[in-house]
Amino acid sequence: MARIVEPKIEETNTESDEDNWTIGAEPFKPIDMTQVANKKGKIAAPTSQAIKRAADILRGGDPIGLPTETVYGLAADACSDDAVAKVFALKQRPQFNPLIIHVASIEMAQTLVHMCPLARLVAEHFWPGPLTMVLPRLPDCPVSLLASAGLDTLAIRIPAHPVARALLDEVATPIAAPSANLSGNISPTKAQHVADQLDINIILDGGPCKVGLESTILKVDDNQLILLRPGGIAVAHIEQAIGHAVDPLTNPDKITAPGQMIAHYAPSKPIRLDALDVAASEGLLAFGKPLPGAKMVANLSVGANTTEAAANLFAMMHELDASDCAAIAVMPIPDEGLGQAINDRLQRAAAPRDKS
Ligand code: TXA
Ligand code: MG
Repeated sequence: MARIVEPKIEETNTESDEDNWTIGAEPFKPIDMTQVANKKGKIAAPTSQAIKRAADILRGGDPIGLPTETVYGLAADACSDDAVAKVFALKQRPQFNPLIIHVASIEMAQTLVHMCPLARLVAEHFWPGPLTMVLPRLPDCPVSLLASAGLDTLAIRIPAHPVARALLDEVATPIAAPSANLSGNISPTKAQHVADQLDINIILDGGPCKVGLESTILKVDDNQLILLRPGGIAVAHIEQAIGHAVDPLTNPDKITAPGQMIAHYAPSKPIRLDALDVAASEGLLAFGKPLPGAKMVANLSVGANTTEAAANLFAMMHELDASDCAAIAVMPIPDEGLGQAINDRLQRAAAPRDKS
């Protein structure tokens, strides 16, 4: 069965999704990909030719789908109001919610934002990687004000994925890239997730995202590090590496973090957290030894490892959401390691569905 119809796709992901699945009371039926086939996006293997084509599309002012180590991004030229506006329109994203700016190097970052010594220290430890810093825009920063929603700060990171790095090197300009999902939906960790929901010219296929959760966002302010969003690097790891405390966000009104909407990452099915039992009609998102009796089980990590669980989280939420289970029950996940970020995403997924 052809997974994708047109154009010809060179699959880079040879891993079988089914490896992660145990079968519940009824046989697990994989999603029929011909039903959700690549009608909208154009998935391309990340050859140097495809990267050049993607760069041309970007320079021409249109967005592309880009793999990063965290999640797939909907990437556009960050210095073009027009290109950035297309990203907001495609995602149906509220324009008060600013985007993350991806750069090729610390030197490029320094042409956009003011980097105090603490910011430099963090950058030297964690870039390239799944860590974003919110820093003051320089007065002559060329990034579209629309991208940062008119704020005097910019969220910025250097991604680690080789395809993202290659594209950044090719275009040599900052790239604005929110996660490549419709606003409020689960973030994409595979090229096909992007193709299923966004109508764009090209999606570079970098395989399944290794981290699987969005970047950790820190605001750097007055020699203080404030956690705006838990993500792909655990807070304890940051504190240990740089010997500086990361403080929780105590007064959200003081810092504009408009993207921290309560209801987010929402699957279409009801989702129940900290489940200690499971109904025969429910799909179980398991962690460690699965609870018995579910219609279907997706196990985030058989060995109860939060890093492995983070990498599987969105893909398994996608799969359970597309199944014929009535609802999704999620086993408790400890707050250790990447557990804090996983629980943050799960709480947003389970929150009431006012997508404002
Ligand atoms: O891993 C990631 O960060 C992915 C990949 C593609 O890089 N991107 C991502 O972008 O998650 P997005 O747009 O889905 O989330 C960006 C978050 C939003 O919560 C937004 O409000 C916040 O960053 N943000 C952006 N600029 C900000 C700023 N100047 N101040 C505070 N928060 C900001
Ligand atoms: Mg997002």
